[in-house]
Amino acid sequence: MDIRIEPTADGSATLYVPALDEHYHSVKGALSESRHVFVDMGLRASPAAAPRVLEVGFGTGLNALLTWLEADRSGRLVRYAALELCPLSPAQALALGYEPSDRLRALHEAPWEEAVSLSPCFTLQKLRADFTTFAFAPSSFDVVYFDAFAPDKQPALWTAEGFAALYAALSPGGVLATYCAKGSVRRLLQQAGFLTERLPGPPGGKREILRARKN
Ligand SMILES: C[S@@+](CC[C@H](N)C(=O)[O-])C[C@H]1O[C@@H](n2cnc3c(N)ncnc32)[C@H](O)[C@@H]1O
Repeated sequence: MDIRIEPTADGSATLYVPALDEHYHSVKGALSESRHVFVDMGLRASPAAAPRVLEVGFGTGLNALLTWLEADRSGRLVRYAALELCPLSPAQALALGYEPSDRLRALHEAPWEEAVSLSPCFTLQKLRADFTTFAFAPSSFDVVYFDAFAPDKQPALWTAEGFAALYAALSPGGVLATYCAKGSVRRLLQQAGFLTERLPGPPGGKREILRARKN
């Protein structure tokens, strides 16, 4: 697949996929989007003592990298599972220059399917799987990072059925965070049973993002 590295406005890099005319992150700042949407508004909003995180779309591993750093900083154990249909090679991911590169390498060189402990506070399980057909166990996660390509590029990932599956997969009090604040997405989340909040986006980035909670 043709895929190119491009700079974003906060100085961090992202990937551009010409076939989809889509980036892996916001061009207004890959690092600031990942940190704000997923770590600050998602993980840190979870009341779970040892949150089980599900990422939809492992991609470059940037969200996993920032989550690992946050787990070690906070001392809160995070068990991180990530679905990915089309994995990048470690070389493609390392070329993005995300730091610390030894951790980025460990994330990408970790085996698929099995859970591995990467530090006392962070375990990773990468699953090579299709979100749209994945069979989730009920209440198996506390936080969802919903980081699919945008709804107009990949509508099959932003459906009532998909959000209903995530609702069932979350524990009570569970949190889903996404960068997309479209009204149609908010309504689909509400239809699945979530309570939704529009929150300010990252500095210099999108105006609003979405967080959804299961009661
Ligand atoms: C917006 S990018 C991911 C960004 C990623 N979280 C990161 O930090 O780099 C969307 C990701 O979803 C993956 N993807 C696309 N369709 C998928 C599917 N049906 N199931 C699982 N992953 C999928 C893509 O390959 C891509 O890596």
